[in-house]
Amino acid sequence: MMAAAAMPATRDDPPRRPLRPVDWPVVVVPEILGAGQEEAVGEGADVGAGGGRPVVVGRGGAGQLGGADLGAEAGEVELLLLAEEPPLLLPRELLVHPLVLPLGQPARERPRPAPHPSGVFVGGGERSLVEMGEGERKRVLVVGGSGYLGQHLLSALAAGGGVDVAFTHHRETPPQALLHALPGLRAFRVDLRSGDGLHAVSESFGQPDVIVNCAAISVPRECETDPAAAMATNVPSSLVGWLLSFGNDSTLLIHLSTDQVYEGVKSFYKEEDETLPVNMYGKSKVAAEKFIIEQCSNYAILRSSIIYGPQTISPVAKSLPIQWMDSVLSQGQQVQFFNDEFRCPVYVKDMVDVVLSLTKSWLADGKAIQVLLNVGGPDRVSRLQMAETVADVRGYSHSIIKSVSASSVDRGVASPPDISMDITKLTQMLGIKPISFQDGVRATLAEEAST
Ligand SMILES: NC(=O)c1ccc[n+]([C@@H]2O[C@H](COP(=O)([O-])OP(=O)(O)OC[C@H]3O[C@@H](n4cnc5c(N)ncnc54)[C@H](OP(=O)(O)O)[C@@H]3O)[C@@H](O)[C@H]2O)c1
Repeated sequence: MMAAAAMPATRDDPPRRPLRPVDWPVVVVPEILGAGQEEAVGEGADVGAGGGRPVVVGRGGAGQLGGADLGAEAGEVELLLLAEEPPLLLPRELLVHPLVLPLGQPARERPRPAPHPSGVFVGGGERSLVEMGEGERKRVLVVGGSGYLGQHLLSALAAGGGVDVAFTHHRETPPQALLHALPGLRAFRVDLRSGDGLHAVSESFGQPDVIVNCAAISVPRECETDPAAAMATNVPSSLVGWLLSFGNDSTLLIHLSTDQVYEGVKSFYKEEDETLPVNMYGKSKVAAEKFIIEQCSNYAILRSSIIYGPQTISPVAKSLPIQWMDSVLSQGQQVQFFNDEFRCPVYVKDMVDVVLSLTKSWLADGKAIQVLLNVGGPDRVSRLQMAETVADVRGYSHSIIKSVSASSVDRGVASPPDISMDITKLTQMLGIKPISFQDGVRATLAEEAST
């Protein structure tokens, strides 16, 4: 049986560099610790894996380790797993928060985000969210981190460093590829309809300084089919109730809303224009905005247009707009696109930039934030124009793009015709100028081609 040691143990053979001291007990399982893993262990220390519980460092197949081997009771072990693939090594009930650290991936080789088309590394070390100093590290929680925007945000937060980052997922298990690529992340299963799982976040991660709520039923047709589920998920009452339970104003809530709060009967909506959603998705988002404004001391509500960009580390199931257009157009068959529905699509890294900018400002000075912002790209485009841009970038003929009216198709849900947005407030307040749709399409397709 192996016992927890106060300091990291090393193998007797062959001589190795010492492990970096950490302030929590570590169990090293020598026979399964691969060669050259010391740096990775050090990096585990960096990500604050411990929280006072024993940590197991090792790798191996099922059956190699068990509770009896570790002399640990259920819930006592924090697992730091070094593995190429993340097999489950220990009985589930023993684990508190498995962390997966890929083999042979020391700190200097950690993935960095692709450069933003502006040439700036979004969330990179040079734009770290906080100045490193004395005192407790700041905590950022991404609710719905397993989704499309959530994963892009987590990549940027992890690359930026300087803060402890956790995320929530709703599916049974967190996306393994994400944990594998970003080993410092903490994952929690949370259901926003009931609030189940939030208590574990406060117990283990603590009160976040910033919560970014990306969780939603984000497909309008699904909201139309099940309005009760749409309201229960999209209006974050359990999340806000949990936030209020801390009894202070120390957390900023950044909440993702949508352009579909607008009716869609004019162009370039401003934030102060009336909200009059035409579908259940928009209604649930308006209800969420009202709830947050009434309940929260510090919030930023982001009314987002269509978010487009490269695929996520752990691919999302839903089809992504640019990739879908590219795929159907590449087949050379004629495809129909609506000529009378207008949006201001926003490149995902611009949206990430907006969230990071708000986060950084809150962490720097803690000045009260109560803001509602339209977040879109600079171009008002129809689906037809979007497809034409993809065709231009790819060199496809426009002859296969057929222009049709949205009224020619029944999609089972009402869709607002023109919800293009004025983003003057965004650019003035945060100094962020989202890139053009054409540049975003180029960047998206270039990044897809390189992976
Ligand atoms: N993508 C866009 O084009 C777009 C446009 C405008 C606004 N928005 C808004 O931006 C936000 C992020 O969008 P997205 O595209 O990243 O969404 P997404 O890919 O659909 O991700 C949704 C997230 O919500 C989680 N979730 C679903 N039901 C939940 C529940 N009952 N409890 C807790 N979590 C739950 C999902 O978890 P699992 O995946 O683990 O199930 C996932 O992490 C959403 O609020 C969306 O409405 C998106």
